[in-house]
Amino acid sequence: AHQWKGVIEEYRELLDIPQDTPAVTLREGGTPLVHSDWLSGLTGGEVWLKVEGNNPTGSFKDRGMTVALSVAVHQGAKAVVCASTGNTSAAMAAYAAKAGVTPIVLVPEGKIAAGKMAQAVLHGSVVIQVRGNFDDCLRMARGMAEKYPVALVNSVNPHRLEGQKTAAFEIVDFLGDAPDYHLLPVGNAGNISAYWLGYTQYEAAGKATKRPVMRGFQAAGAAPLVLGAPVDEPETLATAIRIGNPASWDLAMNAAKESEGRFASRTDEQILAAQRALAANDGVFVEPASAAGVAGLLGELEAGESYAGKTVVITVTGHGLKDTATALAGFGDVVDTVIDADVDAAASAAGLV
Ligand code: F0G
Repeated sequence: AHQWKGVIEEYRELLDIPQDTPAVTLREGGTPLVHSDWLSGLTGGEVWLKVEGNNPTGSFKDRGMTVALSVAVHQGAKAVVCASTGNTSAAMAAYAAKAGVTPIVLVPEGKIAAGKMAQAVLHGSVVIQVRGNFDDCLRMARGMAEKYPVALVNSVNPHRLEGQKTAAFEIVDFLGDAPDYHLLPVGNAGNISAYWLGYTQYEAAGKATKRPVMRGFQAAGAAPLVLGAPVDEPETLATAIRIGNPASWDLAMNAAKESEGRFASRTDEQILAAQRALAANDGVFVEPASAAGVAGLLGELEAGESYAGKTVVITVTGHGLKDTATALAGFGDVVDTVIDADVDAAASAAGLV
């Protein structure tokens, strides 16, 4: 039976890496493009969700990490380092475990969702919590890789973007052409840059007749690309995108400009409402940051923007199980309701009588 081979073996000749690099893979990628009946109905267009939570460690970071780890290990690395808001470190740790090298993780103290922390720890990371934010951690990770024998695998490592661009390939392979619009959350801005790279490459190769308009959404308290300047103290419940100075600033700006797209922000309330609505309407459970693209679309509809008749892809970047604490906040009454072990009491609680 056919089994998806992972993004390196599926797309090797389209990746700008030494072609003899053996793949360190957990068979990432090949994620479903799920039709959103809910959002298609609201827009009058065809809205598809690229569900990246279906990757092995539960986020899109696996696409970049298979490539970054494969190349680093092939070049002799014995240890790898990254700064992270949680998903990058979870992915790096898993691929480092597979490859047999040491993962070193720098994370902002107290700002990593529990599921992500568990992944880093169980995969054998050296976890270093830093009194500071992601931007401080990234500065430290760069410095460590400069001064010490450890390979940097944040998305400033171009091999990360090479891997992540395969999501754009999969979308075009599935739809038969590029969508009209592509919406996604933006934090450190590597992913939007990688998608643009992928769409551009596929168009140049004649596999798509166009490239989509790119619309990136940040959290209101961490929206440097919207404000046009770094944010010193980024703050949002969507901890995955709690970033004030994105490393891929110029690449992301270029993607928005060339595609005639733009960046906008959404409040935490709007992001959490989108997370809940997506789970309740489409059966897709994502972490808060991952709902920023859906919050983006909803806000645009409210503002009178039209997507009628258009094909829209929204990347939902990470799995809801990563951060159940944030998901359940506000549902205390549900979680705390308990009944006796009795059929009629259950029927009553269920509203059947
Ligand atoms: N969504 C999720 C779930 C993320 O974890 C991230 C980034 C993003 C969106 C934004 O993607 O940075 O390429 O613009 N997480 C990084 C991390 C920063 O460390 O896991 P981006």
